[in-house]
Amino acid sequence: MAKISVIGAGNVGATTVQRLAELEPDEIVMTDIVEGLPQGKALDLMQAGAINGYDTQVTGTNDYADIAGSNLVIITAGIARKPGMSREDLIKTNSKIIGDVASNIAKYAPDSIVMNVTNPLDIITYVAMKATGFEPKKVFGMSGVLDAGRFASFIAEELNCSKKDVEAMVIGGHGDLMVPLPQYTTVSGVPLPELIPDETIVRLVERTVNGGAEIIELLKQGSAFYAPSAAIVRMAEAVLKDSKRILPASAYLEGQYGQEGIYFGVPVKLGAKGIEKILELKLEESQCEILRKSSETIRRGISQLKI
Ligand code: APR
Repeated sequence: MAKISVIGAGNVGATTVQRLAELEPDEIVMTDIVEGLPQGKALDLMQAGAINGYDTQVTGTNDYADIAGSNLVIITAGIARKPGMSREDLIKTNSKIIGDVASNIAKYAPDSIVMNVTNPLDIITYVAMKATGFEPKKVFGMSGVLDAGRFASFIAEELNCSKKDVEAMVIGGHGDLMVPLPQYTTVSGVPLPELIPDETIVRLVERTVNGGAEIIELLKQGSAFYAPSAAIVRMAEAVLKDSKRILPASAYLEGQYGQEGIYFGVPVKLGAKGIEKILELKLEESQCEILRKSSETIRRGISQLKI
């Protein structure tokens, strides 16, 4: 009996609810601060069920009490980037919003697992963990699955092969200092460096790092939501089905990768209890260096917060 709540009924939130509804969990609750918005979208999605053939109960609400009993709460509330903005530019506004969202999650859905999607991802996930007071392993962020999806898509395009055969790995902060890992990226089991020359890999890595910004420049307002919602659903399924998938996630580090007390993108085992294990990979020195810089950006962001 699965109940999922999605906080924020904007582009990412509503697209996520659409994808989740098609998987037929028992119930999905979508909340937003704007009156009528989640209710209207929920009604639309209920009617889509009659055409698509799903019986999921989708409800829209402005009342947090309705998230009670959720197994999983997905946070997508807040403001998105505009052209020229970095994810870090969103810290002040989104940390305030998520502080409030998280205390309501703690009040009404104290037994839930929490997946944060709001940017700047690693910093806001930290805010969500602190403000819920939940054990760190019950709170994680969605970023690496999206970044790896972007990397995989560019690799498939370059090789003119099916995306289904590409398994990519991206770790680090969800920002300009993310670290795509070609040595842990494979095409049907073949390591990427055996298939693509180094200089092409460098170009694909750069495009991956700028993948979100490239879309924002084209959209002019708002940021990506189709690939983000697909990534959210992959992680949500791992929690709801307790499938223990190995996926990159923003997880709370306690010494792994030489980091302590921050959320950071790393490969994890994801199941019904949240982050069940963090996997430590052997990295090249240049990759460790970017990770160190990336962790400093996250620490600087956290130090700006009043928590
Ligand atoms: N409580 C609930 N919902 C809120 C609150 C709040 N305090 N503040 C804002 N919202 C809602 C907005 O009303 C809006 O409907 O969050 C929604 C955000 O939707 P969009 O503006 O469409 O943004 P979206 O593209 O969905 O991105 C949301 O996800 O990927 C990240 O960077 C992105 O941080 C951003 C988040």
